[in-house]
Order: sequence, then C-alpha cells, then structure tokens
Amino acid sequence: MRVLSGVQPSGTLHIGNYFAMMKRMIQYQNEHTLFCFIVNYHALTTVGEPDKLRQGALNAAMDFLALGLDPAKCYFWMQSDIPEVCELTWILFQQTPVGLLERAHSYKDKLAKGFSPQAGLFNYPVLMAADILMFQSEAVPVGKDQKQHIEITRDIAIKFNNQYGEVFTLPEPWIDDDTATVPGIDGQKMSKSYDNTLEIFLPEKQLRKKIMSIVTDSTPVEAPKDPEKCNVYKLISLFMTAAEREELAQRYRAGGLGYGQVKKELFERMWAYFAPYRDKRAALAADPEEVRRIMAQGAQKARALAMETIDKVRRAVGLNY
Ligand code: TYM
Repeated sequence: MRVLSGVQPSGTLHIGNYFAMMKRMIQYQNEHTLFCFIVNYHALTTVGEPDKLRQGALNAAMDFLALGLDPAKCYFWMQSDIPEVCELTWILFQQTPVGLLERAHSYKDKLAKGFSPQAGLFNYPVLMAADILMFQSEAVPVGKDQKQHIEITRDIAIKFNNQYGEVFTLPEPWIDDDTATVPGIDGQKMSKSYDNTLEIFLPEKQLRKKIMSIVTDSTPVEAPKDPEKCNVYKLISLFMTAAEREELAQRYRAGGLGYGQVKKELFERMWAYFAPYRDKRAALAADPEEVRRIMAQGAQKARALAMETIDKVRRAVGLNY
C-alpha cells in the first residue's frame, strides 16, 4: 500500500508525534511503500523567523533518521523541495468550498489562540490535501487531531474525480486507538504550541525536570487512585507492555503509591527508551551537510512521482494547451 504522512518543523518533535506517527512510519517502511516528509511550507503559516524554520526542518529530519527511518527503504524529503505541491494546491482550490475550510477545527483553534486569519492558515488543509493526493496515498497514519484534514482531502478528491474523471486515490486515515491523543504535561493534548511537550531528545536534566512538573491531582499518597484519570499513567503506558500497564494500574488502585514515584519511573523508562538513538542523533547534528544530501536525494526520487501526477492533473483540467 502507499502510506504517507508528514510532520511540521514548527518546534522540537515530541512523544505525541513519535507514538502517533513517527514510530508507526518507521515500522511501515518495512511493509509498505512509504512516503514521509517534513512539511516546511505548512510551518511557514506559524514560523516567521527564517533561521528557526531552516533549523527546525533540519532537526526534524535528523530526528527521523536517528530514530530509524531509512531513506533507502522509503521516500523521505523536505516538502519545499517539490514545489509542484503548490501548483496542485492552486488547482484543488477550485474543488474546495470556503465553508468546508471555515469548519476546520485546527483553523478555529488557531484563531482562538490569537493568530490572525491569514489566507495561508485558512488554506492549510488544501495544501495538505495536495500532499496526500500528489502521491496517490491510500493510507495516512496520523493522530486524531488530523482526522478532519483527511476527511477534507477526501471531499476535495471526490469533487475533482466527479468533475474530471478518476485521477485521485481516496485516502483513509490510519489512527491508532492507544496513541490517538497523547496528553501533555498539563493534561491538554501534547502540542508544540501549548508548551506542554516531552521532547524526544531533551537532555537528561531538563527531561527529569519536565516530567516532575507533570500536573496531577492532590489525592494523598496512601489513598487509592484511578489510573485512567492520571496523566502520568497515560504517559508511562506508552512505554509499557499491556501486562506492565495492568500491574501498574493495580498499584494505583491499591493505594500507597505516590505520583512522584510514578514520575520517576516514567523518567527512567523514557530515558532508557530513546537511549539507543542518542549517539546517531548527535552524529547527524554534527554533519548537517550529510542530512542535506540525504534530503536532496529523497526529493529527487519523490519528485519523479509528483511530476507524473501533475502531468495527469494538467491534462485532466486542460492546462496542457
Ligand atoms: P503535526 O506536525 O502537528 O503532527 C505530526 C503528527 O503527530 C500527531 N500528533 C499527535 N498525535 C497524538 N497526540 C498528540 N498530542 C499529537 N500531537 C501531534 C499528528 O496527528 C500528526 O500525525 N497537518 C499535519 C502535517 C501534515 C500532514 C500532511 C500529515 C502536512 N501534510 C499530509 C499527513 C499527511 C500536522 O500539522 O502535523
């Protein structure tokens, strides 16, 4: 199957990104035709500082490579290296009702957070539709927050196909129930824009400090606790087998377990989990030229496929005169 997903380089990548998307993508490269990319055109909607955008994009690529994405087994590129995706976005605008975009949760959330209603932010889902349709993706592994964007993509593709013939494949969202919404240290959804993230490659001291600051209720140590209502439990579960989760749930219900203790265990698990990837991450950080070379090669490979779709689309709509 053709499986595609991307991540914004708008901040440091965190364990919400990792468990809902990156980890799964790294697994899928062995089973599917995988398309993975860093969406720096999308990040332009919120990142206004050029150095931050440049470095963020490189860092995100380094994270993926360090964690095991193998550019020889998949297509891996930087979104802005295939500018045809912007051409496709323009074409797809013709199949995009304004009302559909007005209902987009992520747009409404951004406005609520004080972003000004720029056209880029408003049209964000159409660029995402172009990303997905360009590569005829069948499945898109994402967290729950992206589900609506994939539904918008399907709506646009259906309209296009109805008008011009069967050009685009309709994608399905692939959402994993266990990781659909990873909570942040304040209990809201973990998000780069809420400043509540546990970053994958945070240095030891900072990680420990962040984990110790996870918000919990004030149930006393001796009292029984409900694991399902506890952020620390939800987070540590990501690093546990089903049996380990159940055992910890029993310790919660028995009473006598303090949140501080579970936080310490969470730190140890998370630190150990990402330990095998730290050396590779440091080596990549020391050699950004190598990372640029990998991304350029990946873009060349992916662009050949993008050109096929663009050619088909141009013919379908009559831009080939
Ligand atoms: P982004 O960069 O916000 O997030 C990347 C991926 O991580 C998931 N995610 C989470 N999942 C569970 N819990 C969380 N707290 C959490 N935070 C982030 C997201 O659901 C996503 O899967 N619009 C996309 C990027 C994009 C894209 C695409 C994705 C652009 N074009 C084409 C798929 C296909 C975004 O902003 O993801």
